[in-house]
Amino acid sequence: MLETKSINNTSKISSFLPSERFSVAPMVDVTDSIFRRMARMLCSQAMLYTEMIACEALVHEKFHLINFKDEELPCTLQLGGSDPNKLAFATKVGVERGYSAINLNAGCPSDKVQSGNFGAVLMKTPKLIGQCFAAMQEAAGDVPVSVKTRIGVDELDSEEFTFELMGAIYDAGCRHIIIHARKAWLNGLSPKENRTIPPLDYERVYKIKEHFKDLKVTINGGITTIEQCKEQLAKVDGVMLGRAIIDDPFLLTQVDEQIFSLPKEQCRSLTREQIVEQMVILGEQIQKEGRAIHFLYRHLLGLFNGCPNSRIFRRYMSENMNQKDASPMVLMHAYQAMLRGSLY
Ligand SMILES: Cc1cc2nc3c(=O)[nH]c(=O)nc-3n(C[C@H](O)[C@H](O)[C@H](O)COP(=O)(O)O)c2cc1C
Repeated sequence: MLETKSINNTSKISSFLPSERFSVAPMVDVTDSIFRRMARMLCSQAMLYTEMIACEALVHEKFHLINFKDEELPCTLQLGGSDPNKLAFATKVGVERGYSAINLNAGCPSDKVQSGNFGAVLMKTPKLIGQCFAAMQEAAGDVPVSVKTRIGVDELDSEEFTFELMGAIYDAGCRHIIIHARKAWLNGLSPKENRTIPPLDYERVYKIKEHFKDLKVTINGGITTIEQCKEQLAKVDGVMLGRAIIDDPFLLTQVDEQIFSLPKEQCRSLTREQIVEQMVILGEQIQKEGRAIHFLYRHLLGLFNGCPNSRIFRRYMSENMNQKDASPMVLMHAYQAMLRGSLY
């Protein structure tokens, strides 16, 4: 098995924030600022990730892309790129803006990302990931930088390769790696297929955790329940959930108590009815800020998943929230339709 070299004296070592015990995954077109404001109302402790932001965009001064509200914190800015200098610049901007942590995307397989030579392609050059990390951590100072990656890419999928990949990141000083427990197939599979077809291999992730003793490992991929989170947390340091939160945002209401063991009175354990009331208020704020309410309500379509008549709720929402001048009360009306058991 690969030996870990001691890192050189100039490398900065990263750290791990307590909120990383449970995190909501970076998801393009999903985890925008409005999503994060919604998620934060359901859970005070979880780390929320931004969508991936190309470092190039920040180099070109598109700073509005990383605007956020303080209430979203703790929040990690995820960056995409492969040029250590540009990533360092973008990291500095993120840190100055007040993000809690910065993350490098070295696992996302979309075509756009591949043509930019970052995301999953980076796994083919583990040393470059290490260089990117080192430059970012140097720029970040005491703010932690982590790397999100997979266990392999294309034919580079052996256990030896996974160790080589994680070893290169570790040797650069990184002490928090988020591992999506499957490989990426860059040719032939769509990004969506790349999240389902390559099989999950949690054991590979546990072996990494066992070998690199002081490395904090967050496991990602296919986790859907609080019970599964607890089982994983017996073996690794953090869990990251993506699609499960889109499908069932209500799951977040259990996280403060069940994952962070917060005293009951401090937990944001709202009922679904309270969530509807709170989200109408947030919807009003968002409208005042000049955004249409569907930018919020699209994240709530799964709120009643598993409840009787949830299909009526979804249908009412889908038919009404995109209307021009739709009112924030659409959510309340959808809820009432669900309770009645009929659309109108
Ligand atoms: C709609 C969508 C967008 C995503 N965008 C990103 C992204 O911007 N950066 C990233 O590292 N991963 C991205 N992912 C991958 C997720 O972060 C996560 O690794 C993956 O969905 C597996 O976790 P899950 O099984 O809990 O969903 C995306 C996933 C989805 C479903």
